[in-house]
Amino acid sequence: MRPTGKARVAGVIGWPVAHSRSPRVHGYWLDLYGIDGAYVPLAVPPQRLGDAIRGLAALGFRGANVTVPHKQAVMPFLDVIEAAAQRIGAVNTIVVGDNGLLTGTNTDGFGFLANLRAACPGWRAADGPAVVIGAGGAARAVVVSLLDAGVPSVRLINRTDARAHDLAGALGGAPGTAIEVVAWDQRAAALGDAGLLVNTTTQGMEGHAALDLVLDDLPGAATVTDIVYTPLETPLLAAARARGNPVVDGLGMLLHQARPGFQAWFGRLPEVTPALRDVVLAPG
Ligand code: ATR
Repeated sequence: MRPTGKARVAGVIGWPVAHSRSPRVHGYWLDLYGIDGAYVPLAVPPQRLGDAIRGLAALGFRGANVTVPHKQAVMPFLDVIEAAAQRIGAVNTIVVGDNGLLTGTNTDGFGFLANLRAACPGWRAADGPAVVIGAGGAARAVVVSLLDAGVPSVRLINRTDARAHDLAGALGGAPGTAIEVVAWDQRAAALGDAGLLVNTTTQGMEGHAALDLVLDDLPGAATVTDIVYTPLETPLLAAARARGNPVVDGLGMLLHQARPGFQAWFGRLPEVTPALRDVVLAPG
């Protein structure tokens, strides 16, 4: 339906923002559920970020998603930062309260786990160590969610070892956390008893080389997932599938991370379905 004068409004703040699939995702759900609402792309350059965030309440926005490059920079402009966002060190979802206060949260870890569980119901956190490749912002959300899910340990492996040590240091110390940094040149051997392998790097994305990782030592039952979703089947997932491992593509993480924001702004927890995947994958 077209938004009326009473429509609830939210959007996605990024720079650039034209590539974002979020308007498609939320627009699909608004239509599907017949909600009087709108979700719009908001191109905000870094130097206007504070003005834009302060303007959300003034404009009557219910909230917004935040994407590259603003996920960390947005934090000082918010009134409340929820625990998940504090641990991940970044905000991807803002909710404007009835009192005008801005609360920031991070749903990337939720999206990662919800996608993994939906696509691979047989995966159990206790199955074995989770091997995480990469140490950027996406890795941080993935590692936090895996520790919260109760994996026995996370093996963190990054081309630049120092970044993996920094991330482990930033997340370590909390009760029950077990993060082991493995050197990049030991990455193939580190797969030995893994229950899960996650690529959080840009390797395998269209225009990038494949992730340089030999899977020979990976147990056949280990689940393999990639946060890259262009292409849907990365060379890593293709190699894992060819040797019989359960695989989970990255598109579902994008779709699941959108659900809590939609619920907060528009009042209903939406579903991730094959039809939604088709809409998001359609060209154009
Ligand atoms: P994001 O915050 O979105 O995760 P990022 O901080 O740029 O993005 O992180 C990208 C990740 O891809 C990093 O772990 C990076 O490794 P470095 O820390 O060594 O840069 C990883 N990456 C990028 N190019 C790579 C390559 N050619 N081989 C292996 N890892 C690579």
